[in-house]
Amino acid sequence: MRQMTTVHGGLDPAELRSLGLQPDQVLDFSANINPLGPSRRVIRAAAEADLSAYPDRNSLGLREALAARLIVPIDNLLIGNGSTELIHLVARACLRPGEKCLILAPTFGEYEAAAAIAGADVRTLRAREERGFRWPVDTAVRTIKEMRPGLVFLCNPNNPTGACLERDTVEQFNSAVGEDTLMVLDNAYAELSDCRWDPLPLLGCGNLVILNSMTKDHALAGVRLGYMVAEPSVVAAVRRLQPAWSVNAVAQAVGIAALEDETHIARAREVILEAKAYLCRELDKLSVPVTPSSANFILARVGDAAKVRSALLRGRMAVRDCTSFGLPHHIRIAARRPEECARLIDALRDVLHR
Ligand SMILES: Cc1ncc(COP(=O)(O)O)c(C=O)c1O
Repeated sequence: MRQMTTVHGGLDPAELRSLGLQPDQVLDFSANINPLGPSRRVIRAAAEADLSAYPDRNSLGLREALAARLIVPIDNLLIGNGSTELIHLVARACLRPGEKCLILAPTFGEYEAAAAIAGADVRTLRAREERGFRWPVDTAVRTIKEMRPGLVFLCNPNNPTGACLERDTVEQFNSAVGEDTLMVLDNAYAELSDCRWDPLPLLGCGNLVILNSMTKDHALAGVRLGYMVAEPSVVAAVRRLQPAWSVNAVAQAVGIAALEDETHIARAREVILEAKAYLCRELDKLSVPVTPSSANFILARVGDAAKVRSALLRGRMAVRDCTSFGLPHHIRIAARRPEECARLIDALRDVLHR
C-alpha cells in the first residue's frame, strides 16, 4: 500500500518524550495560530456544548452565522473538520486519475498529498528565493492556460513564505482558469495577516473555491474547524464525499461563538505586527536574513535548519524546519507574544553563535 507522510508544524509528543519533555514545557513557534489562544467566549462555548447528542450533520447554525457575516447564501458554504479535510475532499471531487493538478510552490504539503491520493499528475510552479519567493505572474498565467490542469492550488498569504498576492494578480490567475479547471484559493492565514482583501466577489467570475481555517484565526487547532465558499454546485459535489458528523458538536459551538468575537482577531493582529517587527529587527542583528512576510509567521535563513530546530527543541523551543518545503536552510517562526519572542531570540543567539 502506498504511504505518503506530510510533514507539519506543531509538537510531536513522541519526539518530545524521547527528549524527556512534556508538550506544556515547550514554547511552540512551529504552528501558525492566533498567539492569544482561544477567546474566553470560545472556551465557555466549548464547555457548554452538548457532548451526548450527535452533531448537526449540516452545521446549520454555524453556516447561518457565517452566511450572515460574509453576506453569502448559505448554500455557498461547507464546513469541514479543519480546512485540511476540505482540501482532500475538493481534490477527490474534482480530480480524475492522471489529471493534472498545478500547485504554486513552495507551499502547504497537504495539497500535494491530497492530489496524489486522488491519483492526479502533480505539477508544481516554484517561486524562487532570489525573487523574494514571488511567483512570476506571466509564467503562472501561461502555465495555467497551456497545462489546463483539473485543479490549481494557490495559498494566499503563502505558507511558508508569507508572500501576499494582491487581488488583481489572483484575478489574473482566476481568469486564466478554463471551464474545466477549479482554482482553490487557500486563505488560511488571511485573517491574521496584513494581506486582507475580500475574495468573495471573485466567486462569480470562474471556478473558484475559497478556503478558510478557523483553526488559525481563533486558535482551535485541537478542535479542527474550517470552511469553504464556492458555487452551490461545487459545494454539493464536495459535500457528497464528506462523512456524516465530520464536524463535531464542540467545533460547531465554538465556531459560532468565535464569529461573535471579532475583536479577538483584531487584538491578535496587533500582537502579530509587534512580534514580527521585533523578530525581524533582532534576527537582522544576528545576521539572519528574513523574507518579508504579510502573514503571522516569518521565514528565516539560518543555515542548517534541521540542526537549528533540534538544538532549539532541546532548549524547549519549537520552530518549523522547512526542509520538507524544499528549503533546508530555512526555519519558519510563528509570531507569538513579545516576551515569548524575546526568549526565542535569546535561545537562537546561543544556538547560532555556539
Ligand atoms: C496553508 C494552510 N492551509 C490549511 C491548513 C490546515 O488548517 P486546518 O487546521 O484548518 O486543517 C494549514 C495548516 O497548517 C495551512 O498552512
